[in-house]
Amino acid sequence: MAMIVDQMTPSDIDSVLEIEQVSFQNPWHRDAFLYELKNRNARNYILREDSADAQAASSLRSVDGYGCFHVAADELHLLKMAIKPEKRKQNLAFYFLAACFGKSVEDAVAFAFLEVRESNRAAIRLYEKLGFRPVGLRPEYYSKNPGKRENAVIMRKILKGGNTWQ
Ligand SMILES: CC(C)(COP(=O)(O)OP(=O)(O)OC[C@H]1O[C@@H](n2cnc3c(N)ncnc32)[C@H](O)[C@@H]1OP(=O)(O)O)[C@@H](O)C(=O)NCCC(=O)NCCS
Repeated sequence: MAMIVDQMTPSDIDSVLEIEQVSFQNPWHRDAFLYELKNRNARNYILREDSADAQAASSLRSVDGYGCFHVAADELHLLKMAIKPEKRKQNLAFYFLAACFGKSVEDAVAFAFLEVRESNRAAIRLYEKLGFRPVGLRPEYYSKNPGKRENAVIMRKILKGGNTWQ
C-alpha cells in the first residue's frame, strides 16, 4: 500500500490522539493540536495509506503517523512526531520526515532543528539516518519519573535550500 503525507485537519485529531497517548510520557491534549492547526507558523502533517476510501472521505482516513513543526525565519523546528506502534520498524518515520522536509521547500528554510530525550535511542538513530547531527544539550530539560529529569539532545540538519538529502 502506498503511503502519502497530508496536511493534518481537525478530523484527524482523534486518530492522532490515540497514537500520541501511547507514544509520549507527557502527551499533548486535544487543545494543543487544535492550537497548532490555527498557528500560522505551524506545519502539521499526517501519514496515511493512499486508499480510494480515504481520498473519497477525509473523515474515513486512518492516520499511521504525524508530525508537528514550526517555521521561524530560515529554521524548521520539529516539535514532535510519532508512528502508530503496530506500524513501526517499516521505515515509515524515515519516509514521513523526508517527505515533510521536501514540503518545507515552500518555506525556504535552511536548517531543521529538534530536541530529543537522550534516552530515546530509536529516535536519535532515525534522526542521524536522516542527516541530523547533535549540536548541543539542554540539561534536565524533560521530566522523567517523579522527581527525575532528563537531558535533551539538540540536533540540526542542513536542508540546503530544501534538499532533503545530504
Ligand atoms: C521513533 C519512531 C518515530 C520511529 O518510527 P519508525 O517508523 O519505527 O522508524 P523507521 O522504521 O522509519 O526507522 C528508521 C530508522 O530509525 C532507527 N530506528 C527506528 N526504530 C528503532 C528502534 N526501535 N531501535 C533502534 N533504532 C531504531 C533505525 O536507524 C531505523 O533505520 P534501520 O531500520 O535502517 O536501522 C517511533 O518509534 C515512535 O513513534 N516512537 C514514539 C514517539 C517518539 O519517540 N518520537 C520521536 C521523538 S519526538
